[in-house]
Amino acid sequence: MEIITTTKQMHDWSRSQVAAGKTVGLVPTMGYFHAGHLSLMRMAGELSDRVVVSLFVNPIQFGPGEDLACYPRNLERDQEMAERSGVAVLFVPSTPVMYPEPPETRITVARLGAGLCGGSRPGHFDGVCTVVGKLFNIVSPDLAVFGRKDFQQLAVIRKMTADLNWGVEIVAHPIIRESDGLAMSSRNSYLSGPERSSATCLYRAIVKARELAAAGEGEVARLLAEVEKIITVHDNVRIEYAEIVEATSLEPQLRVGPDSLLALAVRVGVTRLIDNALLLES
Ligand code: PAJ
Repeated sequence: MEIITTTKQMHDWSRSQVAAGKTVGLVPTMGYFHAGHLSLMRMAGELSDRVVVSLFVNPIQFGPGEDLACYPRNLERDQEMAERSGVAVLFVPSTPVMYPEPPETRITVARLGAGLCGGSRPGHFDGVCTVVGKLFNIVSPDLAVFGRKDFQQLAVIRKMTADLNWGVEIVAHPIIRESDGLAMSSRNSYLSGPERSSATCLYRAIVKARELAAAGEGEVARLLAEVEKIITVHDNVRIEYAEIVEATSLEPQLRVGPDSLLALAVRVGVTRLIDNALLLES
């Protein structure tokens, strides 16, 4: 596995792959890998000849007071894990390499990026889209793999890619969970023992909502009341949002339909966790 740290080297490597007739799959990440990230890398490997994983903790997608400074990092461990997952290049640019001058340009996906996480983290998706757009230009991948765990991120990136004719195929990967259902996340490492126990409430709420929906409960308000009951019994958990939206438009719904998605964001202690699931997916 090659480690590349400059945009010029990354660009040249990609051109050499195109010249050799190889397809390139990109997996953008912020590092501190877990089994979810590794599964995305393997999927990219099944769908393309060469896998590039970018590892960059992107400052412009963090708001003031968020966890940019303490975001977990372990480059040595990440390097080993990527290597074992068949990655050809780990692209690890520094902040001055990605942003040699303070950027004045942002990519905004207006409507899809406004609600849910966009509501509680103003500017977040502008930062995500801008860095993903830069990575698309630097790496020129044929496809890029994103996790459904960040459902809104996936929707926003799909829209950006279509709107701007990027010609990159966006591939969705299912959510990888711990054995008790907690969605894997680099941020789970922030949780204390009691917080880790409470954190399962997201998945328990999802399971309950899916059971009720499968049994015919169609009232969104009643489903959300059940979800809130499960989450708010924990003193150390606070709901940031709990919404049922249409999975493509992300518009809130009053009644459950075939594409209803339950989307959750909570604070467990100070740690922000998100999860989601289609309510009627078999
Ligand atoms: P990061 O949180 O490191 O996630 C990198 C990719 O892994 C994203 O596509 C995310 O959805 C996916 N992922 C994380 N946990 C997952 C899980 N449990 N199951 C499946 N996929 C999972 O998302 C980002 O980084 C950044 O916003 C980024 C896109 C790299 C832009 O900076």
